Amino acid sequence: MAIISPSVLTCDFLTFLDDIKKLEAAGVDMLHLDVMDGIFVPNISFGVPVIQSIRKHTNIPIDTHLMIDKPHRYIEQFAKCSDWLGFHYEAGSDNIETLKAIKSYGCKTCITIKPKTPASAVFDLLELCDMVLVMSVEPGFGGQKFMMHALDKITELKSEIKKRSLKTLVEVDGGINAETAPLAVKAGADVLVAGSFVFNSDNITETVKKLKEL
Ligand code: DX5
Ligand code: ZN
Repeated sequence: MAIISPSVLTCDFLTFLDDIKKLEAAGVDMLHLDVMDGIFVPNISFGVPVIQSIRKHTNIPIDTHLMIDKPHRYIEQFAKCSDWLGFHYEAGSDNIETLKAIKSYGCKTCITIKPKTPASAVFDLLELCDMVLVMSVEPGFGGQKFMMHALDKITELKSEIKKRSLKTLVEVDGGINAETAPLAVKAGADVLVAGSFVFNSDNITETVKKLKEL
């Protein structure tokens, strides 16, 4: 069974509560919240107040994906309203210190790599990571096409994690749909982030259930 973390980037935030209830009914495992600062990525989304509001209305664990420059500056605020907190390897913070800071707030840690960053870049950090997020699109926008080379990176990470008997999960984000989700699971992905595929579907609950069965 795959772990499903729907990305709410493409939602209508004023009617979003209905969608949350549908996701709860489908038994989603996490809610993927994409935070963008317009500097690390060429897009701006939302920040702490929106996450705090979402948290008030659901018990679904919050999986926050920071796409911000020098994320160490904001770890305390985001860790306090998230269950899982991830930031980019390439974002200009001391990665070890930032992972330790996330853990110090009792939050699960995640490091994220962009499409051009090799999987081996994070091998030294695996002991500190509850999850590694492999981007299968350039971060910044929903609705892009899955990059097939992400599959090799997922497999490489998974085999390193197994070799070292770690429990780190591998998450994949970008372009996940009915065709690419089974490929990602076969490559070794534990957690699938899916945005447009879930929220543009006619039946959110059914779409999530089908993904979960993979
Ligand atoms: C992109 C975000 C993704 C995005 C995924 O930078 O990190 O989480 O919302 O959207 P889809 O599933 O449409 O590619
Ligand atoms: Zn994301």
